[in-house]
Amino acid sequence: MGITGGSLFQITRWDDVEHALRDPQTFSSASNLEHMAPYMGELILGMDGNEHREYRSLVAPAFRASRLAHWEDAVIRPSIEMYVDEIAPLGRAELVSDITRRFPARVICAIVGVPVEDSAQFQEWSELINGGPMHPKAGMAASRAMREYLEPLVEARRAEPRADLLSDLVHAEVDGEHLTDERLYGFLRLLLPAGAETTYRAMGNALTALLLHPDVMERVVADRDLVPALIEETLRWETPVAQVSRVATTDTDVAGCPIPAGGAVAVIVGSADREATRYDDGERFDIDRSVQTHLAFGTGPHQCLGMHLARLELRVGLDVVLERLPNLRLDPAASPPVIEGLAFRGPTSLPVLFDASPSAAEGAIR
Ligand code: HEM
Repeated sequence: MGITGGSLFQITRWDDVEHALRDPQTFSSASNLEHMAPYMGELILGMDGNEHREYRSLVAPAFRASRLAHWEDAVIRPSIEMYVDEIAPLGRAELVSDITRRFPARVICAIVGVPVEDSAQFQEWSELINGGPMHPKAGMAASRAMREYLEPLVEARRAEPRADLLSDLVHAEVDGEHLTDERLYGFLRLLLPAGAETTYRAMGNALTALLLHPDVMERVVADRDLVPALIEETLRWETPVAQVSRVATTDTDVAGCPIPAGGAVAVIVGSADREATRYDDGERFDIDRSVQTHLAFGTGPHQCLGMHLARLELRVGLDVVLERLPNLRLDPAASPPVIEGLAFRGPTSLPVLFDASPSAAEGAIR
């Protein structure tokens, strides 16, 4: 279904958002293919119906909570500890460039089977690929570079599988058929940006919320069992992927507003997640809310494949930051943090102070 006309229809209310995301017959994901295929290739995010179900069932097992548990000690905890260790002795840091932008990229590289030393390069390619629709030349160049980098790794896993996602994907079969190269690279070029870009914003949003609400910071530092509530409230309050796109397959209407077949639809999950009829004072950040459900991971057939991984990274990442950076507070000499962005929302900078402590390595030597 191609997108027609110049109008963009926005769906903002909770019930309508939920309905649209659960009705792929009327609201197709093909718009994602139209926007992102030049940069990512054949991507799961842009498929509908049986094709989507089959493709998703190939990759879904690797993202089940039970399969991910192993990565907590193998990759997630050591990665965040390494980054926090670098800043702990300094007493000050800029948490976006020092921690949140680096950590999820390293985790997803390790899970996929890309050498973690190259995770900064992957983070850069991911940002350029995601920004492709706005800056096509840079997006295409990054897409080509990522594929060229991945090709020898794919060939190596074909010859000799390892315990990584790349090996699972290369050897996965539907009805006796392997993934075509276009789909394999399409998935990898979605997965690395999807895994890196979103969680990095979510972690920045959670830290911003804590830094702007010192009373909540104090409670969460004292009682780390509050971290899951902090994560869910952050995802609701500042939904990192504020909108997802669809295209109407037929003439339809939402809340009395007609949408013609081919109409481009922006489903604004960030708006639904603050809706007044559902949340008492939805603009307020409040980890004690009775309703903790949200639509930050979407819903329906395309619901985020990486949500268990994202929650695990956020739980471990925030726990280590709060444990190792005591008396964490905003740097009063810097401007207060601002959460911004449309497709992806997060703070661009988080200058902080904390009580300096020796790095784990120095502590062990003394
Ligand atoms: C807090 C972090 C994250 C947020 C807020 C988020 C949000 C979303 C949303 C809203 C969708 C649905 C898109 C749609 O309906 O069009 C989605 C899909 C997806 N996400 Fe995430 N995501 C996060 C983390 C991750 C991670 C860590 C990974 C992978 C490692 C990942 C992989 C995917 C994939 C592959 C899809 C496509 C699923 C499909 O089309 O069936 N995400 N995500």
